Amino acid sequence: MRNLLSITDFSVSEIDELIAVAEDIIKNPEAYQEKCKHKKLATLFFEPSTRTRLSFESAMLSLGGNVLGFSDANSSSSSKGESVADTIRVVSCYSDIIAMRHPKEGAPLVASMHSSVPIINAGDGGHNHPTQTLADLLTIKTEKGRLDNITVGFCGDLKFGRTVHSLIQALARYKGIKIVLISPKELAIPDYVKVDVMDKNNMCYEETRSLEEVMPKLDVLYMTRVQKERFFNEDDYIRLKDSYILTLDKLDNAKKDLSILHPLPRVNEISVDIDSDPRACYFKQVANGRYMRMALILKLLGIK
Ligand code: CP
Repeated sequence: MRNLLSITDFSVSEIDELIAVAEDIIKNPEAYQEKCKHKKLATLFFEPSTRTRLSFESAMLSLGGNVLGFSDANSSSSSKGESVADTIRVVSCYSDIIAMRHPKEGAPLVASMHSSVPIINAGDGGHNHPTQTLADLLTIKTEKGRLDNITVGFCGDLKFGRTVHSLIQALARYKGIKIVLISPKELAIPDYVKVDVMDKNNMCYEETRSLEEVMPKLDVLYMTRVQKERFFNEDDYIRLKDSYILTLDKLDNAKKDLSILHPLPRVNEISVDIDSDPRACYFKQVANGRYMRMALILKLLGIK
């Protein structure tokens, strides 16, 4: 039985296969509408979500399956003190596959140790978010026509940004990737990503505070939100929250074919004026997330 806890649980060829299936679903959705008939997906969200939970549910419904779950830990027995291990033992009696989001790093790994059905990490604290990475990879592949030989700038909260950590882990396995890390020092990429992923894979990267200076060289700009919920100290959040606000004038020296990604939700870090610019790809990312999650559900359930 396979789980998806980290994007590195899949080989590059498996990710390529998922992208190919997602592309086929986009072209031919009718062929997939009964693939998961009588299968049940449980979505256990101990942390808020709009896109990830609803796209998983939409994905399963589009495959002809059913969904159950909770979107608020307070409405589950975890509010009475039930452990993740016990919750998963119970829910794996009711479902064929589980997508789980939890504020504690490593909670999906614990879940996988106690589950009789596949576990999907739908985001664990400031650690990983591998299914967002699947959406990001399909978006980059669609926009650029390739997943190698690109310069990707990550801007904002790189410390707690789990989508950033997972996408860098994925890109580390493609050739000719250059990473530009744009953040205040307080929100710099954690050492475990720098040392264990980028250094270990001899990735080419640079760190800067200035988005303006590096903008001309970027093929992809991955903006992120400064996440209020990850700060222990509100004063630090207030000081850092407006570190980067992308406005149309800041794109003057960007490549004409720059792709602007953001995992969303957005607060104010991308001006809404940019939404109608052809370089804005973040709502395409949302749509791609559903197709990649459909492909993922099929793979983990072993359905061709
Ligand atoms: N990108 C993402 O994880 O969004 P949600 O928090 O709304 O699921």
